[in-house]
Amino acid sequence: MDVIVDLQYGDCGKGKVAHYLVHKHPYTHVLRYNGGCNAGHTIFHKGKKFITHHIPAGVFFGVKSIIGSGCVLDPDQFFREIRMLEKGGVRTRGKIFVAKNTHIITDANKNEDKQKGGKIGTTGRGNGPAYRDKYGRTGVRAVDIRRLKPYLIDLYEEWYPHFDKAQGKVKNIRILAEGAQGFGLDIDWGDYPFVTSSHCTAAGALLNGLPPSSIGDVWGVAKVYETYVGSKKFQPKGEIFNKIADIGEEYGSTTGRRRQTNWMNMQTLERAIRINGVTHIVFNKVDVLRAIGQWAVIDKGKVKKFSSEKGMTDFVGKRLRSLGIQKKNIFFSESKETI
Ligand code: IMP
Ligand code: MG
Repeated sequence: MDVIVDLQYGDCGKGKVAHYLVHKHPYTHVLRYNGGCNAGHTIFHKGKKFITHHIPAGVFFGVKSIIGSGCVLDPDQFFREIRMLEKGGVRTRGKIFVAKNTHIITDANKNEDKQKGGKIGTTGRGNGPAYRDKYGRTGVRAVDIRRLKPYLIDLYEEWYPHFDKAQGKVKNIRILAEGAQGFGLDIDWGDYPFVTSSHCTAAGALLNGLPPSSIGDVWGVAKVYETYVGSKKFQPKGEIFNKIADIGEEYGSTTGRRRQTNWMNMQTLERAIRINGVTHIVFNKVDVLRAIGQWAVIDKGKVKKFSSEKGMTDFVGKRLRSLGIQKKNIFFSESKETI
């Protein structure tokens, strides 16, 4: 299993990296491992823009796409998304599955989140109340919902088939695990209480019935600046940050809210790299800072400015290598469609 994790506050471009990796490697499964339809993954496929909330990127390539037990699922949104994909020409039949033990976001969960989520600035999609009910042992699971029946899957049977009777050999399983939200929103490692209610780190992928030894590459995804959407104050004073938001089109793909921006924080990045065991890293939206013509990061509490793009990428690259990431595994991306 290779894992994709967001190293900041979500919206770093995981969808694009998932799309790229599924194209490149012969994965047998793509697994969404945490979160619900609070996520919004923007994917450009064959020149068309798609926004998915629940369904993993594997579906664009006909790879089995699974919503795992670490997720919470809104059946209405799930069926809306299937219709949207089919309408856009993406075949979903026999490709999309939901783990039997995935918990359900109920109407009551959604109503409650809409009414009370303001303090945190949630997406209002029922995520927090659904996880609370799960851990309070009063939740509803996918296996209890009749209309989900054709999509249900047992993750144990899926991951551990051992032997293909028809072919007389052991089946090969290769999973791409697609995280949602990001390190800064993680329930344990984010800035509590301004967090989401799930495990956004690579460890979260394992909670879907997989052993620690299954992890291969861990692809960290970041932006060359930070964004956050929610109730806490995040953006410092300065017109530059509004400019970054404008040029970067920083509006939430789920709620349309404007994202607050800041320079990239090196210590947040370092924590995320270590805790996730990142082996490969993609920095997105280099084109945005290039359009603005300013290059800076926050390091040890101070803004560190660079006179050129190369100055910044050299600095960041050196820091990453000191954390054990090889130069060939560091990518600075300037395109919406590829890394
Ligand atoms: P919730 O996950 O809807 O409960 O929202 C909790 C916090 O996480 C809020 O600040 C949301 O804006 C943020 N959040 C949740 N999902 C995403 C996402 O996919 N991208 C970015 N922020 C998110
Ligand atoms: Mg998003």
